[in-house]
Amino acid sequence: HGGTVVSATGSQLLDVLIEDETIVAVLQPGSTALGADLAAAADTVIDATAKYVIPGGVDGHTHMQLPFGGTEASDTFETGTRAAAWGGTTTIVDFAVQKPGQRVQDTLAQWHDKATGQCAIDYGFHQIIGDVNDESLKGMSELVGEGVTSFKLFMAYPGVFYSDDGQILRAMQSAGELGALMMMHAENGIAIDVLVEQALARGDTSPYFHGTSRPWQMEEEATHRAIMLAQLTGAPLYVVHVSAKQAMQQIVTARDNGQNVFAETCPQYLYLSLEEQLGAPGFEGAKWVCSTPLRSRAEGHQDELWRFIRTGDVTAVSTDHCPFCMKDQKELGVGDFSKIPNGIGGVEHRMDLLFQGVKDGRISLERWVEVCCTTPARMFGMYPRKGVISPGADADVVIYDPNGHTSIGLGKTHHMNMDHSAWEGFEIDGHVDTVLSRGRVIVDDGAYHGRAGHGRFIRRGLSQNLV
Ligand code: URP
Ligand code: ZN
Ligand code: ZN
Repeated sequence: HGGTVVSATGSQLLDVLIEDETIVAVLQPGSTALGADLAAAADTVIDATAKYVIPGGVDGHTHMQLPFGGTEASDTFETGTRAAAWGGTTTIVDFAVQKPGQRVQDTLAQWHDKATGQCAIDYGFHQIIGDVNDESLKGMSELVGEGVTSFKLFMAYPGVFYSDDGQILRAMQSAGELGALMMMHAENGIAIDVLVEQALARGDTSPYFHGTSRPWQMEEEATHRAIMLAQLTGAPLYVVHVSAKQAMQQIVTARDNGQNVFAETCPQYLYLSLEEQLGAPGFEGAKWVCSTPLRSRAEGHQDELWRFIRTGDVTAVSTDHCPFCMKDQKELGVGDFSKIPNGIGGVEHRMDLLFQGVKDGRISLERWVEVCCTTPARMFGMYPRKGVISPGADADVVIYDPNGHTSIGLGKTHHMNMDHSAWEGFEIDGHVDTVLSRGRVIVDDGAYHGRAGHGRFIRRGLSQNLV
């Protein structure tokens, strides 16, 4: 009651009536449609005066307990979804992983086992296809029927998740027939592996050289190749974690040609840079080792990505939350950056970090909600159940205080299962005050009221964002 409801299309002083798990009405303040005004008619009233009332965040790219880099991502579905809730995210879409020799149906079942009964917030799955073969391609249509409507392939990581161009072509043909979304990790992994080997042979072993051995040309080239293969096959393409402005330019051209190509970026590519990684003392730069890598600020990638969010060419901002501790995890790569597990933890900070973009005049309030909540819900077939404050939608609601403050880092707001923060020292001119997940208050006034197992699996439909 009393807050400003912000949607992708506008902001208005409105009251929101919730019954059980669902939003049942959005009312003008003082409306007596319920027989009395809302404050008198409701059992419970949450005061949102001078605050924003937004749909809960939808993070379309997380990796809870991902087996990767000789270890496993340090947030479980329980700890990771709890941290997400603290940060105003009420839905995640995580990735089930198929490795060579496995059936996608079996790997999806394994990921259901990991998540069931553990999550604080609702969740869905994408399926990583690590072994493109007849069986996997048949499995794709079965998964679509089970609400897993998007598939990720890797042009990077030879020997791990990598698919060659023929395999990508085949998977895209299947995705095209199904109308399912093909997600792509677009980096030329074969060439990168040569650059990595050469860097190590030169003695360039520190974390910074992770970035320099994955130059933007490798991302632009792979992005272009993915776009052409998608064009040929009719598969809708969603390029994940775009960090290079040149890769964006490829996506912009494809979009201008009317192709169903979408770009996702992440807060790390908007705020952090290769130069800062170079300046980090000792092995500390390992906290920023992720792929695609951080890019040079001198080259202007960060500013360009903000601009592409404004123009609509970046469709969604996700975290690619893939946390590893320094101890025993990132430290596997002391003396050899190629052994540092790739990934940054950030599921807790996305809503805040992007709100700072509003405060800094980089994006509008409505665009904040659009790229963090509404479009991800549409992109991944969950709208209007998720991503909007509207009658019939799940009552996933965040009350955000634009006059509050958030200090990010260990011992501050950090709830992720990590022994460091890639975001240490960031100060945000805003604050997540209250979070509701399907009508239940799970975070309020600095206290956590959620529980493992409240979150439910969401059977997603096909993307609602295609032209
Ligand atoms: O460095 C990253 N991005 N780790 C997570 C796996 C992936 O490629 O998304
Ligand atoms: Zn990736
Ligand atoms: Zn990822």
